[in-house]
Amino acid sequence: LATAVVAIDGPSGSGKSSVSRAVAARLGLRYLDTGAMYRAMTWWMLTNGVDIHDPAAVAAASDKPQIVSGTAPDGPTITVDGRDAAGPIRTDEVTKAVSAVSAVPEVRTRLVDLQRAVIGAGGIVVEGRDIASVVAPDAPVKVYLTASEAARAARRNAELTGTQATSVEDTRADLARRDALDSGRAVAPAGMAEGAILVDTTELNREQVVDHLLALVAEHV
Ligand code: C5P
Repeated sequence: LATAVVAIDGPSGSGKSSVSRAVAARLGLRYLDTGAMYRAMTWWMLTNGVDIHDPAAVAAASDKPQIVSGTAPDGPTITVDGRDAAGPIRTDEVTKAVSAVSAVPEVRTRLVDLQRAVIGAGGIVVEGRDIASVVAPDAPVKVYLTASEAARAARRNAELTGTQATSVEDTRADLARRDALDSGRAVAPAGMAEGAILVDTTELNREQVVDHLLALVAEHV
């Protein structure tokens, strides 16, 4: 277990983050949120005036931000050029822009390198869209976490607070748009990898999903 990599992929609203953190905490493993790194890259592009719809401009800037991820499951951190990015990467502006940035191959190459450096000798739960297919294809446990679009939209909507608050219909449309972009891109399209185990969380609560994943880890590691 000390060197294991647990790969958890899935669309937004599948419950990936809270479940991944809980599994890591229960097993005494580290935790890496790769989505936060794509968001951090996107935030840097937006704050530095890079046109995110110009792939060449995004590619040219992709090696500039210094992105550092802290891997404690009970308090993961992320900094960009030394600044705390935890809040800014969750804004609506970043959420709307991230799929365009993450489709740029140079961005992916850079971040996959950083992710592999963090994974190092293992002992970590890694969540994202391409962990089982690209980042850690040799991981002994690969889970594809999903749920119906309605259930995912309801969960995502419940997380939004203050000025972010919107209708479930708007959240659902936004989620569907992002899923289509992420699974339709040319490089590392989001989706279920070969050898991954499908876990549909539509009818399950968080504890049930965590227990199920702990059983899968016990079985495969
Ligand atoms: O997981 P989260 O929803 O925060 O991810 C934000 C975005 O980052 C995704 O919509 C996707 O465009 C991108 N992403 C990716 N590959 C990953 C993780 C996230 O392309 N491994």
